[in-house]
Amino acid sequence: MTTEPSSMLDVQDFEPAEAVFRREVIEGLRQSPKTLPCKYMYDERGSQLFDDICELPEYYPTRTELSIMREHADEMADALGENCLLIEYGSGSSIKTRLLLEAMKDPAAYVPLDISREHLAKSAAKLSKLFPGLQVMPICADYTADFELPQPDKPAENTAVYFPGSTIGNFLRGEAIEFLRHIAEVVGSGGELLIGVDIKKDIPTMEAAYNDAAGVTAAFNFNLLKRFNRELDADIDLDSFRFRAIWNEQESRIESHLISNIEQTIHIGGEAVHFDKDERVRTECSYKYALDDFASIADQAGFDVRKVWMDDNNLFSVQYLVAR
Ligand code: AVI
Repeated sequence: MTTEPSSMLDVQDFEPAEAVFRREVIEGLRQSPKTLPCKYMYDERGSQLFDDICELPEYYPTRTELSIMREHADEMADALGENCLLIEYGSGSSIKTRLLLEAMKDPAAYVPLDISREHLAKSAAKLSKLFPGLQVMPICADYTADFELPQPDKPAENTAVYFPGSTIGNFLRGEAIEFLRHIAEVVGSGGELLIGVDIKKDIPTMEAAYNDAAGVTAAFNFNLLKRFNRELDADIDLDSFRFRAIWNEQESRIESHLISNIEQTIHIGGEAVHFDKDERVRTECSYKYALDDFASIADQAGFDVRKVWMDDNNLFSVQYLVAR
């Protein structure tokens, strides 16, 4: 148990180095079609913008998942059991997490993991204040990479990963299987995963969620270009790009794109990158799953889907998986 003031929380730091950031960005821009790793959208400003997205009227996933948590957190906590070490991948300043922790019986510890150090420190501190008896052990890391799991003071009976927000939708299919396999290894046989999964639905609803009228999702994408200018010594004229999110039926995903308004050559991290007029760079994919489709992915990763909770309109799901 920790009773330290929130500002004293020890954040273990596995934050990716600038060299990796530069290399991954340049690699993406050298591909055809051009892509960018969406994890870099979440610097401090990006994380704020994402929180704003979650409040948008068009962005149904957050409020829907929240309503599912409100209604079913007790059943989820029952499934997770007592003395559980709860690891959250990509900790937000999340009400969902609070609902789950409130319902859980005597959790061994809570380990929030996030790539954005500032965001992590703030949300971990908030939770620590709210749950003074709970050991909170934040880790700053890219959660697709290996990290050392901290040992809580109170021995845990089982380990569970909480991965809300349908962030699994931001992984390409093969990557999603690989990532779930990695989680299966982290939790071990019999370990659990509680995961938010967005459901495939009518195209206008899905497209509107990413092409919001207030332009917050566009700003979230442009923030990536601002980061390049600031941190990778890039010379990108923001006005020379526009933002558009498009449904890809074949892949069952929303694709976010920054589109060059003109033919141009930009410079970034000491490299020149050419854009044709109207050439796109894909910043993010948001997969939307049918239930059986996701069950098949879970199965390939070594998980059995034991329980699925959904809202009345079947917009979103929270799924309870157990590793074989
Ligand atoms: C975090 N992730 C699940 C969000 C999504 O819906 O793909 C990120 C996001 N991008 C634009 N709006 C929201």
